[in-house]
Amino acid sequence: MRIHHIGYLVKKLEKAAEEFEKLGYVRLGDVTDDTYRKVDILFLEKDGYAVELVSPNAPDSVVSGLLKTYKNAPYHICYVCEDLDGELERLTGSGYVQIDPPAPAPAIGGRRVCFLMNRFAGMIELLEKED
Ligand code: NI
Repeated sequence: MRIHHIGYLVKKLEKAAEEFEKLGYVRLGDVTDDTYRKVDILFLEKDGYAVELVSPNAPDSVVSGLLKTYKNAPYHICYVCEDLDGELERLTGSGYVQIDPPAPAPAIGGRRVCFLMNRFAGMIELLEKED
């Protein structure tokens, strides 16, 4: 698995993006409305590092509850997998708890992602490799 991006949970996406730009980050594309997860997503890049800004756009968004714990803060690391289902099986067999079924991520070209939680390492995201 290779690191793909760091996910930041932010309350105001546009304001946050402007602040990252002051630090030298460059936007990768436009804001995407992920209607499945009810979040707005924007990727930025600096020095080869990709940061994903995630902001809930509905009260029942998958991340609304997380804002109490992570506000304008990193909350997951995403890994690209050669074999998403294989890694999912391996990790759920060794202490990682699957949060949701693998589902397409509109902000990453519709590639499937899924989230897992570990009591010591926190939240991670698995992303299937590009075709
Ligand atoms: Ni992510």
